[in-house]
Amino acid sequence: MTSKTEILLFGATGYIGGSVLNRLLSHPKADTFSITATVRSPEKAKLLEKLGVKAEIASLSDFDKIEELASRAHVIFNVANSDDLPAINALLKGVRKAHETTGELPILIHTSGTGEIAEAANGEYAAETVYSDLNVEQLKAIPETAFHRKVSLAVIGADEQGYTRSYIMIPGMIDGLASGPVFEAGIANPLSIQIPALIKQALDRNRAGMIGPGKAVWSIINIEDTVDMYIALFDAISADPQSVGHGWEGYYFGVSDHVSFYEIGQAIGQALVDLGLAKDAEPTTFTDEELLKHWGSVLAGKYGGTTCRCRADRALAMGWKPKYATKDLLLAGIKPEVEYEFKRAQENGGVDFTKQRRHGLLLKSVLESN
Ligand SMILES: NC(=O)c1ccc[n+]([C@@H]2O[C@H](COP(=O)([O-])OP(=O)(O)OC[C@H]3O[C@@H](n4cnc5c(N)ncnc54)[C@H](OP(=O)(O)O)[C@@H]3O)[C@@H](O)[C@H]2O)c1
Repeated sequence: MTSKTEILLFGATGYIGGSVLNRLLSHPKADTFSITATVRSPEKAKLLEKLGVKAEIASLSDFDKIEELASRAHVIFNVANSDDLPAINALLKGVRKAHETTGELPILIHTSGTGEIAEAANGEYAAETVYSDLNVEQLKAIPETAFHRKVSLAVIGADEQGYTRSYIMIPGMIDGLASGPVFEAGIANPLSIQIPALIKQALDRNRAGMIGPGKAVWSIINIEDTVDMYIALFDAISADPQSVGHGWEGYYFGVSDHVSFYEIGQAIGQALVDLGLAKDAEPTTFTDEELLKHWGSVLAGKYGGTTCRCRADRALAMGWKPKYATKDLLLAGIKPEVEYEFKRAQENGGVDFTKQRRHGLLLKSVLESN
């Protein structure tokens, strides 16, 4: 009897992690996997067990548990938090232990984001530099103070020390309502971060908004294409780890097109008009008072005025091909998200900015250190 591949997933109740889990559960080789997911909610743990996933109740500050789980895994997907250095250090301790015990090189697929390469443009311009994940010197030059960067460096450091093969997925702004059994069971959050936040802000002020003139441009990718990329990478590593770049050669930008915040604002505005929630589709500039209300900090709110551009050269070379390759297709997905958030706001008696304000604290600390 051959033993199963022990897969450990952090972030299964999240937007990206839930999507990755869906795809692992429906993978052609799913019967050769033993999937363990950490989860904070005991109710969600029970629902995960029903899908055949071993659920371990753990938060990212349960360092001993993280280390212990990581020490037993062959493959780890970290899709919980791109910025939690103590948690990644605990995870890496476990990975080191696994290597020292078995002599094998555990696989670590970590998630960062193109916030790593974002410039603070205040909405005034689009980044000129286009990053390529094949340009290692360009990647090495990203400052340590950049968003997500300290954790990415810890992951690459572990690869350099030779006890893991590490891969960093670095998606741009992911969008689209996530779907599949993990979402239908009420286990995972079906919405992304940036565009849903802009939708909530628009619902709160009855008009789409942007930072400054909205000229800042960001890398964008659909959630299905993002998960296709995770699985393409996982399949390639499973087939032949020697043939796949890792460490510094293992950065994978996730991008299919670029979009300005003005264009996003227009798409949200048009959806508001179509749904009878606004009279004018044209986005206007957020005031500082609005940013403070929505994000708990004006500086954090201005993250929506940063800019970045990149190419997914490594994934494309691997045969990954995005289905939602243009911003037109991506922006077409905004209307269902506006409907979703409008319904939630009605149910909750108003727009709930709790998640944005929590995220705002992190954004503020990163932006202040730059
Ligand atoms: N969405 C994007 O466009 C995008 C793009 C690039 C990078 N990223 C990064 O990727 C990561 C995941 O993004 P997402 O959109 O999937 O976010 P999400 O929907 O909020 O999911 C976050 C996941 O991490 C878990 N988590 C967070 N803090 C935790 C803690 N202290 N202990 C245990 N579990 C914890 C959450 O568990 P609970 O359900 O218990 O809260 C959830 O499963 C984030 O760090 C984000 O910055 C996101």
